[in-house]
Amino acid sequence: MSDGGRAFPEGFVWGAATAAYQIEGAVREDGRGESIWDRFSHTPGKTANGDTGDIACDHYHRWPADIRLMQELGLDAYRFSIAWPRILPNGRGQVNAAGLDFYDRLVDGLLAAGIEPWATLYHWDLPQALQDGGGWPHRSTADAFAEYTDVVTRRLGDRVKNWITINEPWVIAILGDLWGIHAPGSRSLSKALATGHHLLLAHGHAVEVIRSNVPESKVGITLNLAQMYPNSDREADQYATSIMDGHQNRWFLDPVFGRGYPEDIVGFYDHANPDVRTGDLDVISRPTDFLGINTYAPTWVKHDPNGLFDLIGDPRASGKRTAMDWLVDPNGFEDLLVRVHNDYAPGSIVVTENGSAWDDREPVDGRINDPDRIDYLQGHLLAAHEAIVQGVPLDGYFAWSLLDNFEWSEGYTKRFGITYVDYATQERTLKDSGRFYAETIQAHGENL
Ligand code: FCB
Repeated sequence: MSDGGRAFPEGFVWGAATAAYQIEGAVREDGRGESIWDRFSHTPGKTANGDTGDIACDHYHRWPADIRLMQELGLDAYRFSIAWPRILPNGRGQVNAAGLDFYDRLVDGLLAAGIEPWATLYHWDLPQALQDGGGWPHRSTADAFAEYTDVVTRRLGDRVKNWITINEPWVIAILGDLWGIHAPGSRSLSKALATGHHLLLAHGHAVEVIRSNVPESKVGITLNLAQMYPNSDREADQYATSIMDGHQNRWFLDPVFGRGYPEDIVGFYDHANPDVRTGDLDVISRPTDFLGINTYAPTWVKHDPNGLFDLIGDPRASGKRTAMDWLVDPNGFEDLLVRVHNDYAPGSIVVTENGSAWDDREPVDGRINDPDRIDYLQGHLLAAHEAIVQGVPLDGYFAWSLLDNFEWSEGYTKRFGITYVDYATQERTLKDSGRFYAETIQAHGENL
């Protein structure tokens, strides 16, 4: 329905996002080193069906066709990540020219197609060699990240003007080092918190490197945030909600915005707290140009005396759920954007990921009918518009994802794409949601 009043602001960036390990494949080509996700996905029992990113969407070879797909969608911008092990196969030291060349071609291709490249420097594929030396729980990995950032931005900085340092430090730390369900698969709270701290330090170092190598660029970090609601008025649930919010949201937002780590959560983590050295908080809070937010669903929190941290998120709140079993709740999305604006006032917010997985069927007559994904997209874009009306400086939206892809421990069982990928043939088919997104971009949101 068009009421003519929903146009998004001039200059609003319409994009789609992917990540290297999820789409590229070609894991042993052109001198690429091993990453922790190669190691993890090849370890029996770690991913659904033993799926790996060995081939994924074969984007490493098919990127020209994928750029044509982006053009068909009418994207202003494409967010992709750079695989550290393609650039520095051992994590540090020797630079692999062929790895840099790949991203060089991709960036040139995007620019020739009129699509603005948004590059993420770290979307989870740490070189295995650095993991062997201790990985993110070791402070030196943050220094290695600064060196890698220097190599990449020197080469691509003349053309790439939008940089995201780290994607989702909470997921990296908690799923990777506490729950053990993502690479590298550790289970230790103190390791996870050390990882989180070093990721934030790495971010701060990278901001400085990028500012000096690419002076006219925009730099930000992407956090995965979730609006938290108490499951009831009970005091225990309210308390659990504030801790959960502190654990996932404030623990990263506060230091990035210059407030240090939140005291209530420092108290909560107790002996597992990271080693924060003099000057660290200044590095972490270096000014950025935008805050990237990845968000999919709110969390409803219920106190659970037996749960981890005595808390439990998402206790079967009612409502429609995606194939990931995540709630569909555009209001939660709007509340989150307004909350971040009210509490932290970033100069600019960009939704760097938002989307939904559904059990899509194979194409029929070249079409994929995915009404649930269209609903999700429409609801969330309307909520984004509403947030803008309320004064949130939301400057862009990146749909997750351009393509169905390797969904980490879920392997290929979960499809988030606005484009269907037939993994046997690598054929791409724009889903109806992709067509809807293209119309929305064309109409600048007035069709919503
Ligand atoms: C985010 C990740 C992204 C994708 C989506 C579904 O946490 O950044 O790679 O897996 O979730």
